[in-house]
Amino acid sequence: MGGTMTVQGGCPLYGTAEVPAAKNSVLPLLAASVLCSGPVRLEQVPRLSDVEDCLSILRAVGCAAAWEGEDLAVSGPPSCCRMPLAETARMRASVLFAAPLLARLGRVETALPGGCRIGARPVDWHLMALEQMGAQVAQAGERLVLTAPAGLHGTEFCLPGPSVGATETVMLAGCAARGKTLLHGAAREPEIFDLAQFLNRCGGRVQGAGTDEITIEGPCTLRGISYRPMPDRICASTLACAVAAARGWVTIAGCSPVLYAPVLDILERAGCTVVRGQDSARVGRMGTLRGAGYLVTGGYPDLATDAAPLVAAALLSAEGSTLIEDRVFEARFGCAEGFAAMGAAVKASGRKLRVEGGGPLRGAAVTARDLRGGAALVVAALGAQGKTRIAGCEYIARGYAGLGEMLGGLGARIE
Ligand code: EPZ
Repeated sequence: MGGTMTVQGGCPLYGTAEVPAAKNSVLPLLAASVLCSGPVRLEQVPRLSDVEDCLSILRAVGCAAAWEGEDLAVSGPPSCCRMPLAETARMRASVLFAAPLLARLGRVETALPGGCRIGARPVDWHLMALEQMGAQVAQAGERLVLTAPAGLHGTEFCLPGPSVGATETVMLAGCAARGKTLLHGAAREPEIFDLAQFLNRCGGRVQGAGTDEITIEGPCTLRGISYRPMPDRICASTLACAVAAARGWVTIAGCSPVLYAPVLDILERAGCTVVRGQDSARVGRMGTLRGAGYLVTGGYPDLATDAAPLVAAALLSAEGSTLIEDRVFEARFGCAEGFAAMGAAVKASGRKLRVEGGGPLRGAAVTARDLRGGAALVVAALGAQGKTRIAGCEYIARGYAGLGEMLGGLGARIE
């Protein structure tokens, strides 16, 4: 779903939506599969452009990677250390392939990763950790060449700041490194726990995932397994915010409410009805919503940075103001321009977005500038009167296999 999307606002949402597998778990799992000695099957994977980019990277380095129905089958050791520039430069998660390829081949030629322009997003902490584990890093312009002629060895590493990706890089390198790796200041996101569970089922020895202290006993031979990645808590958050914006009653199935508790709590405080189940949540909105006041994002279990634009979109017409500060990325609110075009009283400054709320939204022509900001424009359009045309939908396709179809199945009128 590239190009543009047209949303006819004012249609309440009813029904049940199944939450797909999490993009931010599937991508690291695909990088981890490079370390496995046997074939890996990931079950029920959504067709995301970021996933397709990872398959291209895997094929370019000599692995076999193909869809088998809704599953992904990846096999074969890598034989080439040059990562393809286009995919590497386009997608942030390409950095996750560096450690496994370096561990398997002793060398990897990659590039500074791209990804949504929500901040500088350097990879210095990934490289610091790998250097401390025996890698040499040479940077020539945009290209990065990592070598480890003597292989990788365990280390004790303190992350300078919370980083999901850098935590995953250390976990992957630690599985191949000789000796023990101890990581302080690890990110605690559920996707980290999912990666550790995968690695341990393959024969790895990763302890402490989900806490800020992770230990990995290496080297370990990882066999291939079949694995179902965890559900996408940001997709679940998108659905909850969509109901809050559009009105209606929706069951969000296949994702524990615990995984996106801050979003559900905020919407409930704003006036939505939330019924939490074991593996699903029912979210309803009938009347007027109230502003949520001051909100701050942070590492799990705080409000996810990826959900910030979505919560803002749900509260654009609420009675009362909402102020969201993103403490993870410095440029998360590119979507504010689109919100304003729809008539919302918003003001973005640095890491903060202020939503005055109150007024009705009207359809407009807007452009997505990043993945979650694009999804937030769709959510806002559901609650606007009239038609909204959203350009730049290729950004949305990076993280949603069919956001229009998913919402259409609940009664939204989207082409
Ligand atoms: C992951 O990005 C996710 N992507 C992001 O989701 C998510 O927003 C982010 O984690 C935070 O939860 C994937 O998992 C593929 P970080 P990542 O390293 O790993 C700084 C989406 O919409 N930093 O936790 O890149 C960095 O600049 C995407 O699905 C360094 O300074 O995020 C940022 O300010 C967007 N040096 C902060 O840390 C480094 O070496 C957190 O980044 C690494 C990170």
